[in-house]
Amino acid sequence: ALSAKHVREKQRLLVVANRLPVSATRKGESSWALELSAGGLVSALLGVRQFETRWIGWPGVNVQDDKGQKSLSSALEEKGFIPVFLDEETVDQYYNGYCNNVLWPLFHYIGLQQEDRLAATRSLQSQFSAYKRANRLFAEVVLSQYQDGDVVWCHDYHLMFLPKFLKEANSRMKLGWFLHTPFPSSEIYRTLPLRSELLKAVLTADLIGFHTYDYARHFVSACTRILGLEGTPEGVEDQGKLTRVAAFPIGIDSERFIKALETDMVRSHIQKLRGRFAGRKQVMLGVDRLDMIKGIPQKLLAFEKFLEESPEWQDKVLLVQIAVPTRTDVHEYQRLTSQVHEIVGRINGRFGTLGTVPIHHLDRSLEFHELCALYAITDVLLVTSLRDGMNLVSYEYVACQNTKKGVLILSEFAGAAQSLGAGAILINPWNISEVAASIEDALTMKEVERKERHRHNFMHVTTHTAQVWADTFVSELNDTIVEAELRTLR
Ligand code: G6P
Repeated sequence: ALSAKHVREKQRLLVVANRLPVSATRKGESSWALELSAGGLVSALLGVRQFETRWIGWPGVNVQDDKGQKSLSSALEEKGFIPVFLDEETVDQYYNGYCNNVLWPLFHYIGLQQEDRLAATRSLQSQFSAYKRANRLFAEVVLSQYQDGDVVWCHDYHLMFLPKFLKEANSRMKLGWFLHTPFPSSEIYRTLPLRSELLKAVLTADLIGFHTYDYARHFVSACTRILGLEGTPEGVEDQGKLTRVAAFPIGIDSERFIKALETDMVRSHIQKLRGRFAGRKQVMLGVDRLDMIKGIPQKLLAFEKFLEESPEWQDKVLLVQIAVPTRTDVHEYQRLTSQVHEIVGRINGRFGTLGTVPIHHLDRSLEFHELCALYAITDVLLVTSLRDGMNLVSYEYVACQNTKKGVLILSEFAGAAQSLGAGAILINPWNISEVAASIEDALTMKEVERKERHRHNFMHVTTHTAQVWADTFVSELNDTIVEAELRTLR
């Protein structure tokens, strides 16, 4: 088998994900503003620096004119990013429709409201065609970049057909697929119309990876129950051909955060924030994309209950909630935004004074230095995801807390609960009273206990990094291919 070192020296990695690490906005005929994209996938993969990487994905903007496409391509290519241009109709049907209104809620066990589900069912066939069409466009761009020996690593639920289209074009391509969301129980997955085609397409990859063992097991069950294939400890077998399926828990580039805390920019921002929060004894933090999977309404209701039941805390604690807008063209997300605003307004109205309010809610992303400063000075991070593939915000918080040893309250439905569970206070976000009680526990936790919990989590976050994750996946992919070749020789 090839060692990780060998992989590093020799291999080029083509990372293919729906979204590029930067999203573009047009500023003039040929001029572009590039902004870092949000989400765990981008933040982890940007930390993977040990390969010669080319990243292929959608730049998040509709550009149909030649001049625009050329100028944006060259701005991106300088950074090693190759754009896949999608027209408006495809974005609507593939990205808003099939990816984010069908697969995303289903994979996170979220039932859409009846009317939306019915509407989704009616447009399903055309959205599914758009999904395939978009996957073909990605495949064409990958093939135009591919060189013999490259490892092609496809990411996430947007690109489940991609392994199939690529293998059809080149059966010798080394191909991995990794899912950044949960894979649901087969009982949920099998309610998806057109469920078999997607599974068969993914199974053409050489190696399939998930964040947790549970997600991998659910996937193998879906293959055995829906496709009638055989599940083995190694993966899924179809007429003697094995597709390896395994868990590869992702991590962050912890060094980047730890180093940032030493910079003047972050330090001076920490001072600024300290001044601003001076009136409060403790500050709690939430950092999420404004997504229904993050359980933001549940978090706010739990915070409200806590304030109700512990009046002595009412003017002593502040919750800073950063809610980064996402997928704003999807109806369900628009509804969530209004719901969250309504709850924040109510709580601030109830518990605020002329001088202050208990919740600072921001509908925007922060600059990296602002985020690091917030992570470093807050006393508690509150993660209430209803389902979450991993949740790297909890990792980022831990990485920035080596001085303060703040407390992590973490949903048991986030993949991270399996790695940071021993150091965090685990909660069921649906149990508002339990979360409220955990807030009290976190705010009053003794230093000895905070230190001990933090030590455990910090050790995990700094050893199970994004680099280790990628090394492990790519070496496993190489091993899988070598073993498959050996099997054919036997
Ligand atoms: C999650 C998904 C990613 C996605 C990110 C942001 O982390 O797993 O694939 O890029 O959310 O969502 P967006 O739809 O804005 O790309």
